Amino acid sequence: MQPEKAGTLIDGRKVSADIKREISEKVILRKQAGQKVPHLAIILVGDDGASQTYVDHKVKACKEVGFHYTMMRFADTISEDKLMKHIDQVNRDTDVDGFIVQLPLPDHISVERITEKIRPDKDVDGFTNRNFGSIVSKNPLLLPATPYGVMELLKRYHVPTEGQNCVVVGASRLVGAPLAMMLVEEGRATVTVCHKYTKDLASFTRQADILIVAVGKPGIVTADMVKEGAVVIDVGTTRVEGPQYKNGYVLKGDVDFKAVAAKASLITPVPGGVGPMTIASLLLNTLRATELRNP
Ligand code: GUN
Repeated sequence: MQPEKAGTLIDGRKVSADIKREISEKVILRKQAGQKVPHLAIILVGDDGASQTYVDHKVKACKEVGFHYTMMRFADTISEDKLMKHIDQVNRDTDVDGFIVQLPLPDHISVERITEKIRPDKDVDGFTNRNFGSIVSKNPLLLPATPYGVMELLKRYHVPTEGQNCVVVGASRLVGAPLAMMLVEEGRATVTVCHKYTKDLASFTRQADILIVAVGKPGIVTADMVKEGAVVIDVGTTRVEGPQYKNGYVLKGDVDFKAVAAKASLITPVPGGVGPMTIASLLLNTLRATELRNP
């Protein structure tokens, strides 16, 4: 899928492949030096199809860079207490450097309680309050993975952020809110956060030099809402199902890609934009967690 004219594609798959190459070189050096090989554990509860696909991608990425990995699967009937006990075990397992609990979780399990149970120095998704707060520290521990991936994309495409008007649409705990903070702290940008209570969304998005959309509503950003020459980052990945699609579904971003690409100077596609970067960040965080624990 190519933009119609000026808009150049930000190729998340290529940047992610570059990062994976860099990581695998570091893993080889660690092995040669007799240091510990990074080990990622993945906890998956239930049999949600989308979660299974995401987890498969994470396992594949571990294999590509030479990490060890462990898959831990539990039925969706597992109690919160039991899941907490498993997390405790992984927290204490000295061979596991980092782990994630794939979301969503069944309704009877509190995401907040589960997330907060994860040791911050093994929290390679960067979901814990400690790691959220670490964004504003001089020495961040493990950065939230998707925002980290977006910042890395901007850096590797040489998009200047200092003093730029960045508008983040979506204030979620896992993406919009930490990303806004990272754009202020690391990016030195002027940041506006819009959310479902924002009045006249377009009046804000039209001011954006860098527009980042993380809502989960396909097509919420249309061409008339975007300034000519803006950099547009689409974090949305909604599965839209239908018999006409090859796998029974397609992934749709939040941005009306074709029309917006004609106005943007740079734009991420969906899929192939931010998605692969979340996995690259997960690997970067796992390597960092390993280096912190086993220098
Ligand atoms: N579900 C959708 N995206 C993610 C992610 O980045 N991490 C986890 N743990 N669950 C998810």
